[in-house]
Amino acid sequence: MWSKTAHLLSLALLYKGVFSQRTVVPPHFQGGEQSHTQWISGPAGFDGPANQPLNDSSFDWWYFDVVQEPDAQGRHPSFAMTFHTTGQDGMDVIQNLFPLGLPSNNLIQINLNWPDGGKDAWILAGDEAIITVEGDGASGDFKGTGCSFEGAPDLSEYSININAPDKGIVGTFHVKSDVPAHYPCGPAEEGQDMQVVPGVGWMNAIPDGYGEVDLTVRGKHFSARGRGYHDHNYGSRPFSQSAYSAYWGHGRLGEYAIVWLTVLTPELEEHVSAYVTRGSDILVARCEGIKIRPYGDHSTYPPTRRTGAPEGFTISVDTPDGLFELQAEAINIQINFDFYRRFSGRFTGTLDGEPLPDGVALWEQFALAKE
Ligand SMILES: *[C@@H]1O[C@H](CO)[C@@H](O)[C@H](O)[C@H]1NC(C)=O
Repeated sequence: MWSKTAHLLSLALLYKGVFSQRTVVPPHFQGGEQSHTQWISGPAGFDGPANQPLNDSSFDWWYFDVVQEPDAQGRHPSFAMTFHTTGQDGMDVIQNLFPLGLPSNNLIQINLNWPDGGKDAWILAGDEAIITVEGDGASGDFKGTGCSFEGAPDLSEYSININAPDKGIVGTFHVKSDVPAHYPCGPAEEGQDMQVVPGVGWMNAIPDGYGEVDLTVRGKHFSARGRGYHDHNYGSRPFSQSAYSAYWGHGRLGEYAIVWLTVLTPELEEHVSAYVTRGSDILVARCEGIKIRPYGDHSTYPPTRRTGAPEGFTISVDTPDGLFELQAEAINIQINFDFYRRFSGRFTGTLDGEPLPDGVALWEQFALAKE
């Protein structure tokens, strides 16, 4: 069906007025040709693959998580899963895990924290990945892994099925959205700039929603109920050529949901994105008016591979409702590599100096400096 270069088959059509598209990503390809990479949002297909076709340096990944609010003992399980389609050098950060080369261009990462903070991790190498888009939602069937995700055409919900008993994990994840989708600089509308930094794009289908995950892990039950999330990143060149470091996270306090993002380019230019909702209304969705910094031990800025795990982050965001001054204080570390860390914990803060209800958040740190 495909030669070494014509490695990706994509069909897009309008069926009964609903945008629909099917893309097949083979497990092994060498792609020296140009990807057509989308940087300005279109009228439909919000969560669809942004590279057609993928080449050696381009990538698309679909990310999902859920984090349960800490109880009095600080016990709060969390779960996250990423479906990667990438050229060998696209999401090059993963090469850190595979010194001999990627086993497939279609890879799945699963990570979780048990209630006591213990971690578990899986990486599954897929056969071909079939990505279908209907309306604005995307679905992905990663053949050979037992794992797939399915999105509603209106982005109202996403589900994941995991059936990998040989890897010791079977179960389901579900997230139902409570707030509108957005891009780095604005709401989910046609004509938006999708770039976070030159070379990397972002669409956030579910910035905050009710999430639940139920798994059987090596015969033991795991569950988490709480704030769920789904987004999608992509790029046209190796990720580490676009980003030197990055902080991202999402959380909720009372009626406010927040998504924060800041990325430093290799030239050390800072690019930010701020998203805040009250109820189901967007207060801000823009690429300015937010400051995100680590605090406490190991909070060197910008972070390097020697920085370690910061105690937490402060986030201050300007909105029409006032100034949010927030703190994400780590309880658990879900992933702890020097180049990439993922945390969850307490989310606290004030709005114009008035305390907000305590909440929960999940966040990450990339530190991609060579040294
Ligand atoms: C892949 O396509 C992008 C266009 O989006 C291009 O900039 C890049 O050089 C291509 N990579 C390779 C390895 O040809």
